[in-house]
Amino acid sequence: MSETTLDLSENAVYQARSERANDDKTVPRSSPLGAVAASRRTGASRQEVAQSILAEDESLECGSLGNTYFKRVSVAGVELKLEPLQPSIGTVVHGIDLATDIDHPEIVAFLRELWLDRRVIMFRDQAHLTREQHVAFAKQFGELGTRYGETDHEPNSPHDLSHPIDVPGIPEMLVLISDEKVPGAAANWHCDATWQKRPPMASVLLCREAPPIGGDTCFCDCYSMWEGLSKETKERVEHLTAVHVGAIIHQMDGKTPVSIHPVARTHPETGRTALYVQQGFVKRLAPEHGIPEAEERAFLAEMKSQEGRLEYTCRFRWEAGSIAMWDNRAVLHSASADFWPHRRHMERVTILDHDHSRRTPYYDPTAV
Ligand SMILES: [Fe+2]
Repeated sequence: MSETTLDLSENAVYQARSERANDDKTVPRSSPLGAVAASRRTGASRQEVAQSILAEDESLECGSLGNTYFKRVSVAGVELKLEPLQPSIGTVVHGIDLATDIDHPEIVAFLRELWLDRRVIMFRDQAHLTREQHVAFAKQFGELGTRYGETDHEPNSPHDLSHPIDVPGIPEMLVLISDEKVPGAAANWHCDATWQKRPPMASVLLCREAPPIGGDTCFCDCYSMWEGLSKETKERVEHLTAVHVGAIIHQMDGKTPVSIHPVARTHPETGRTALYVQQGFVKRLAPEHGIPEAEERAFLAEMKSQEGRLEYTCRFRWEAGSIAMWDNRAVLHSASADFWPHRRHMERVTILDHDHSRRTPYYDPTAV
């Protein structure tokens, strides 16, 4: 067993869900994982579908094809190559070792500026990082958060597979594992833990094991989403607030977390306006506004239509040792649940803003 392999044999949620696989029940098609699997192979048992897909993907080789455009930049003597994934968001930073180069304050400052500008930055070839080094990297940018940000609400739901997976010595690390028996992926557009009163500023996700195909994470620019709304809608919704409701796996002592946040959010560092309505967690506008139901539905539908527009998004292909650090105040993200029955093992930590006054979302129409 490698140093980063986690034993799930004692995990009751994993074991309970494994029974479904043992019963040879198909992956539900209500989940994209099941729908994609069904589209690839139909009319067979779960095991037959899994085996045929795994056999089809077995001959894939890992290698490089084609060219990549990048910019060269030298920071503190480290030669970096910056690969933009899309015109306005997402840059892969090549040529850096996050175990050693991150000790240079100049490099940390450079990465922070790049991250604020590009909303999400990525790294490859960091499989050698220990979990402690993953945490140390995150702490260069702020305060280490709990699994879901601050301690106001720490989920302990018996339905959450990841909850009982403890990383020894690092209770803040959230482990996300999907495999043939127990598939799962956060396949909806969201920012992390917006059902918290003070959601985490950033998330740093490290891939320990990637499927050979599929399982990408997509990011969507919330500034463009705001700009994409009609002028009339912007004027109507800019001072409204919305209700963010956690999922069943986010319950603590049986209670579902709920928070109310502004629809238009001012980014506390860039001063720009982001649409802060992610319909992974937003269920409705705050009732005190008294918006008629039909009008509320129309607003939510127009906002929803902004999620995942190709022009606002970039897509990141994972390899073991890839890392993405995103700004939860400026981008949405969604996993691509298309990789069953392959295995995917991700590990996440959250970062809180050092400046406590910037942690609670707000809207300031006078900001730049
Ligand atoms: Fe997430």
